Amino acid sequence: MNGKTNPAKHLILARTHRDRVKDGLTVIMKGEGVWVFDQDGKRYLDLEAGMTRPVHVGYGRKEIAQAAYDQLVKLCYFTPMEFANEPALQLAEVLSEIAPGKINQFFFVSSGSEAVESAIKMAKHYHHFKGDRKRYKIISRRGAYHGVTGGALNVLGVVLPMRQIMEPLAPGTVFAESPYCYRCPFHLTYPACDLLCARDIDRLIQFEDPTQISAFIGEPIQQGFGAYAPPKEYWKIVREICDRYGILLIIDEVICGFGRTGKWFGIDHYNIQPDIITMAKGISSGYVPLGGVGCTDNVMEPIEIFQHLHTYSNHPVACAAALKNLEIMKKENLIEHAREMGNYFLDGLRTLESHSIVGEVRCTGLWAGIEFTLDKKKKNPFPPQQVVRLTDRAKKKGLIIKTMGQALEFAPPLIIQKEEIDQAIRILDESITEEEKGL
Ligand SMILES: Cc1ncc(COP(=O)(O)O)c(C=O)c1O
Repeated sequence: MNGKTNPAKHLILARTHRDRVKDGLTVIMKGEGVWVFDQDGKRYLDLEAGMTRPVHVGYGRKEIAQAAYDQLVKLCYFTPMEFANEPALQLAEVLSEIAPGKINQFFFVSSGSEAVESAIKMAKHYHHFKGDRKRYKIISRRGAYHGVTGGALNVLGVVLPMRQIMEPLAPGTVFAESPYCYRCPFHLTYPACDLLCARDIDRLIQFEDPTQISAFIGEPIQQGFGAYAPPKEYWKIVREICDRYGILLIIDEVICGFGRTGKWFGIDHYNIQPDIITMAKGISSGYVPLGGVGCTDNVMEPIEIFQHLHTYSNHPVACAAALKNLEIMKKENLIEHAREMGNYFLDGLRTLESHSIVGEVRCTGLWAGIEFTLDKKKKNPFPPQQVVRLTDRAKKKGLIIKTMGQALEFAPPLIIQKEEIDQAIRILDESITEEEKGL
């Protein structure tokens, strides 16, 4: 950065309104552990593991760089068709040991969106090769986030205006309501609601014609409302409904996977068997782009040929980096650590509930949220631009956090320690106090 060029002139930033960077750009120059440093040497505590939350093992892991380097020198690339490579074979084997239940076969891609595309295609392949060729519909949920490419965008139900510019989208996706109890879409209260959000999926299927539906896709714990975990019975009911109609269940583990929620996978909290899972982010801790899809032997059994290919599928360098990343996670017990630190983080977040604008706090493992409201009793909506202002206040104080609609959402690197959590809670407390005073 020699100050002569404004990098924003030539570089397009994702989902960044031009007003947000008109007064200058923060350039992140390096990272160490849970800390990142900008072009002026200012240090930030990164409570978002790289903002899109992949950096599970923290910044600056030389072992991962070395593993990628060694593989680059040995074999930089070879096609995923007809040939295999060592790191991809090993990674599939390692994943078969930790993936939920019977998930046993894997295909690697370069992002979460590609993983979702692959999962949707896999479900269609399954039905096609079984001779069931009418099933073209997918059920997703209002509030879901599954990525931005064609098929992934189709099933995107998030409140952010990301679908609308690209409409009309391809037909075939239908949306169920989400299990968002804080502001229940059916205006009911758990448990008296008898999980209508799950049971209503049956009615949706009846309406859409069960013989036309290929798969149901959902995040085990949902990003869209700020790390929202459904009631414990939710996934069991969805699983039973899918089984009733021969619909495959795709669980999107792109955020939840690899310890984010204090277990290897988010669905491990719910004790059900998915047919297909998607993965990305924590699989390689963001050191290299990598995503993946995993399925049971039952799903692959009828599929004679998976008519799907990215040049960079099963990429040896990405798989080698992921293998080292998973080795670190196991060696350092990061899943247990995430669980332990998550409990500590939740205790800290609960101290913020005394603020008049804090409606609810929540945390599963190290995935947390604060729900804001203008009226605690009525749970009135909170202006999203004020949540953005909270992130600006925190950033000035050296804390990186992110918004999710009316909530703040937190996903620190899994290596975070108690002192760092204390520091984050202190800054959050100050920022919320300032925001309250301004109201
Ligand atoms: C649940 C889920 N699925 C899919 C995606 C898309 O992943 P990517 O941004 O790597 O394409 C994301 C991204 O945040 C996600 O959270």
